[in-house]
Amino acid sequence: MNKPLLTLTGVAKRFDEVEALTHVDLDINSGQVIGLVGGNGAGKTTLLRLMAGVMEPTMGTILFEGKKVSTMRSKLGVVPESTGLYSRLTAWENIRYHSRMYGVPDDIAWNRVSHFSNRLDLTDALSRHTKGFSRGMRQKTALLRALAHGPDILLLDEPTAGLDVTSARTVRSLVGKLRDEGGTVIYSTHHLAEAQQVCDRIVIVHNGTIRADGSPTQLLEQTGKDNLEDAYVALTSDKARARKEDNKKEGKMSKWWRRLLTGRTPNNEEVGEDE
Ligand SMILES: Nc1ncnc2c1ncn2[C@@H]1O[C@H](COP(=O)(O)OP(=O)(O)O)[C@@H](O)[C@H]1O
Ligand SMILES: [Mg+2]
Repeated sequence: MNKPLLTLTGVAKRFDEVEALTHVDLDINSGQVIGLVGGNGAGKTTLLRLMAGVMEPTMGTILFEGKKVSTMRSKLGVVPESTGLYSRLTAWENIRYHSRMYGVPDDIAWNRVSHFSNRLDLTDALSRHTKGFSRGMRQKTALLRALAHGPDILLLDEPTAGLDVTSARTVRSLVGKLRDEGGTVIYSTHHLAEAQQVCDRIVIVHNGTIRADGSPTQLLEQTGKDNLEDAYVALTSDKARARKEDNKKEGKMSKWWRRLLTGRTPNNEEVGEDE
């Protein structure tokens, strides 16, 4: 088994009184599209920003190939929630500004960009100022900007939010192509159908914790549901959380039983039924 690209251990993030994430343990392996799926305020953006090394966790560690992720930013390509393009620059100038910061020669950045801009149908717009760009064009420019320095992993925060059908489809198809070429993409979304279509692995983020993690098929099997929406509802319900707590308690009980059976606690004590 390959070593994970990104490893999160015991990660928590607090903003004043808001506990945005708690107890996050996650390994990201290469060559997959991983969906962070959850509702508004679940903690997806916070998790992506921590993985991107643009923000420090309150607790825990985030390592990229064993090194602190904030020192490995050139290995990551990030498309944030808000694209943050300079409207007085053209699309290509925005991209070049970014790739130069990573010390990438313009011709190399240009080769990468023109390879992907055809797929995104953005080639003709590269020489235009981004001021009048539609949301779809801005999003595609931000994607090219994230790819231009040749990252090992791409982090996309709701990349299809607010896009028309055709643009959203083009973005999804690019993600699929990147995966087919061996790339690794982490993709946050609140669209289950999209996650099912695009992602090899789905990580369900709910109230700042990871509620489930597996392939779409595994999540269906785990819940006994026949569609991902029902599986999501089951996995994020309070009942699911209570069940998780019960399992923890049962785990403790079994350890206690084991101790009892190995004679390490007084065995004349009266014990209740396990169930
Ligand atoms: N910079 C911040 N300052 C204060 N609270 C924040 C900040 N960023 C996120 N939060 C809070 O953390 C929680 C998770 O937010 P976020 O990660 O943006 O969720 P999502 O992307 O899933 O909608 C929310 O309660 C949000 O209000
Ligand atoms: Mg968000």
